[in-house]
Amino acid sequence: MKWLSIKWQKLLVVGLLVIIYGCVAAQESRQQESKPPAAATQTAATNQSAAPAKEVGIYEQEIKPLTTYQCAQCHYPVYSDIRDNGGKHKIDCTECHETFHTWKPGKKWSEVVPKCVTCHDLAHGPAFPKCLTCHADPHAPIHSLVKLDVLAKGCDQCHPSQKKELTKFKSAHTEVACSECHHTRHGYLPKCTECHDTPHTPYTDNSGCLACHPVHSPLEINYPKTTQNQVCAGCHEVVAKKLIDSHRKHSKLQCVFCHADRHGYVPQCTKCHSQPHSKAMLDRFKHDCKACHGEPHALILPGHK
Ligand code: HEC
Ligand code: HEC
Ligand code: HEC
Ligand code: HEC
Ligand code: HEC
Ligand code: HEC
Ligand code: HEC
Ligand code: HEC
Ligand code: HEC
Ligand code: HEC
Ligand code: HEC
Ligand code: HEC
Repeated sequence: MKWLSIKWQKLLVVGLLVIIYGCVAAQESRQQESKPPAAATQTAATNQSAAPAKEVGIYEQEIKPLTTYQCAQCHYPVYSDIRDNGGKHKIDCTECHETFHTWKPGKKWSEVVPKCVTCHDLAHGPAFPKCLTCHADPHAPIHSLVKLDVLAKGCDQCHPSQKKELTKFKSAHTEVACSECHHTRHGYLPKCTECHDTPHTPYTDNSGCLACHPVHSPLEINYPKTTQNQVCAGCHEVVAKKLIDSHRKHSKLQCVFCHADRHGYVPQCTKCHSQPHSKAMLDRFKHDCKACHGEPHALILPGHK
């Protein structure tokens, strides 16, 4: 039995040698064909219009790689999937499938199809290595994103800053789940008025509310310098009325000019009026401005209106 296999081996070696010789010879002749001397090229070019193009044998043709169009002729469902839902994956098939049609039973599927990490690395860090568990269809990676309840387990990991803010600044929003506000689909941004249907100030869009309430820490109220008095008046009616009714110079000022930046901040009179009266006078009244001027929104001197 052994001699037989040796004989077969010899035959195989001889056969291979013949084939290799054949290939090398063929390649040499092809190279000669594709690189004609300079002079010959010129005559060929000038004669082109005169003589009809020479028929090329089927095994002398230059074979070009398949185009996406040609892949699509057989793989139409994949093609239309990318066309309709592919998003930024509308690139040539062969940019991802550098090799294809190599799978056969026994071979691992993961070895024949492209790997996401070749182009994207670990897009969301090492905690999320299994791309297709969320991007279910590689040809439509965003469109095929899994349902919110699956993603909900990872909100905190991918968006740690929002989580941190909600935890650090306790408010009623801390008790609301991310996906209760960001419902329907991943990335959805809710309107405040979905839940606050009668807000204390007229609603135009979220940015109006967000100017005072950072949504993930809504009680850290930092209002802008442009805030109109009527916004504050919505809650501080009495104070606002006093200010409007007094005709002293404070009534021309914005609430936020004095109560700058942060809700609840109360300034000292001397922040703006450093030396309003003589030292002797102020010492006598223990620097109590209100004893004579009354409260700052009305500024009524005793005995005056
Ligand atoms: C962004 C990269 C990417 C592009 C572009 C791409 N593919 Fe794929 N394709 C993949 C990956 C990854 C898989 C393996 C998915 C899996 O493991 O199930 C795959 C799987 C396939 C499969 C086998 C599974 C199936 O869905 O039928 C076919 C066929 C295929 N691709 C054809 C194409 C064709 C044709 C094109 C172009 C029209 C194309 N692909 C474009 C990445 C790509
Ligand atoms: C003449 C038809 C035809 C053309 C053209 C064609 N395919 Fe295929 N392809 C098939 C068939 C048949 C299969 C095996 C059955 C199946 O999975 O649909 C296949 C399987 C695949 C697979 C599965 C995994 C593998 O590698 O075996 C991929 C990926 C793939 N083709 C990609 C491509 C890409 C990319 C192109 C264009 C560059 C292309 N095909 C062009 C017919 C074609
Ligand atoms: C050959 C390289 C390549 C491979 C492999 C690849 N991608 Fe992409 N992917 C791209 C390119 C290019 C973009 C567009 C990038 C851009 O414009 O910012 C992209 C964009 C994306 C996007 C954003 C799509 C959008 O419409 O906004 C997602 C999600 C994505 N890829 C996921 C994947 C996943 C999951 C895999 C594996 C199944 C994968 N990619 C494999 C090249 C690739
Ligand atoms: C736990 C689910 C999950 C896993 C696992 C996952 N992704 Fe994503 N990926 C997402 C979500 C959610 C988005 C945001 C989609 C959007 O823009 O709405 C996203 C976006 C992307 C984007 C677009 C980039 C951007 O900043 O907009 C790329 C690229 C991407 N993923 C690649 C990958 C790759 C590569 C892997 C595997 C290594 C992977 N993803 C694993 C959920 C996931
Ligand atoms: C695997 C990572 C990943 C997971 C899990 C994930 N996201 Fe995202 N998310 C992203 C990426 C990437 C983007 C797009 C890039 C960006 O704006 O940061 C995004 C965008 C968003 C946006 C839109 C941001 C904007 O400015 O428009 C919101 C809102 C959002 N995610 C909320 C959530 C919520 C809520 C969850 C949990 C239910 C969640 N995400 C789970 C990665 C993830
Ligand atoms: C009470 C409702 C609510 C809760 C709870 C909530 N969000 Fe938001 N989130 C919003 C609103 C509203 C916006 C901003 C919308 C806009 O800009 O108009 C937003 C914006 C975002 C953005 C975009 C970037 C930014 O900070 O503006 C991301 C990402 C985000 N949220 C993630 C999360 C995550 C993760 C959680 C849970 C840890 C969460 N959100 C909890 C309502 C909420
Ligand atoms: C999905 C529902 C939801 C959305 C959207 C939402 N909130 Fe709330 N918010 C609540 C709940 C529930 C409470 C607690 C009960 C209440 O005051 O109505 C709350 C309370 C508040 C509070 C008081 C916080 C406290 O601890 O007393 C403020 C301020 C607030 N929200 C502002 C906003 C702003 C601004 C937006 C938009 C950027 C917004 N909310 C969007 C559900 C929501
Ligand atoms: C000029 C700043 C400012 C703007 C703009 C603003 N708020 Fe407020 N909001 C406040 C202040 C200040 C409070 C009171 C906080 C406290 O009780 O200490 C408050 C309280 C709240 C509360 C708690 C319940 C209540 O009514 O007392 C909710 C809910 C709320 N705001 C929602 C909104 C919404 C929705 C918008 C947008 C339509 C909005 N706010 C716009 C400053 C503002
Ligand atoms: C939604 C209602 C609401 C709005 C709008 C509002 N406030 Fe208030 N404000 C309150 C409540 C309730 C308190 C008392 C509880 C507290 O101290 O937080 C208060 C307290 C104050 C205090 C007194 C703090 C102290 O120590 O006595 C000042 C000053 C103040 N607000 C200024 C303003 C200014 C300026 C605006 C407009 C930019 C404004 N508020 C808008 C509800 C509101
Ligand atoms: C000229 C500066 C100035 C302006 C303008 C001003 N305030 Fe004040 N406000 C003060 C000072 C100073 C105090 C502290 C008075 C005290 O010590 O009793 C105060 C106290 C308050 C208080 C808490 C005590 C109280 O009287 O209830 C509230 C609320 C308040 N201001 C709201 C407002 C609102 C609303 C506006 C605009 C309509 C406004 N203020 C305009 C300087 C100002
Ligand atoms: C944030 C700055 C600021 C604070 C705090 C402040 N004021 Fe004034 N005050 C002003 C300005 C500005 C004027 C107008 C000056 C002008 O037009 O000449 C003014 C004017 C006045 C006047 C003159 C009124 C008139 O109609 O002639 C009096 C009195 C006065 N302030 C008293 C006070 C007292 C008392 C306090 C503390 C309770 C106080 N102010 C706090 C800024 C401030
Ligand atoms: C003994 C009573 C008294 C005390 C205490 C007092 N004032 Fe006056 N102040 C007056 C009188 C009277 C005027 C002049 C009439 C007027 O303009 O209201 C005046 C005027 C002012 C003016 C306007 C000056 C101008 O040039 O128009 C300012 C500003 C002022 N006071 C600030 C203060 C401040 C700040 C304090 C506390 C540190 C204070 N006052 C304490 C009685 C007093």
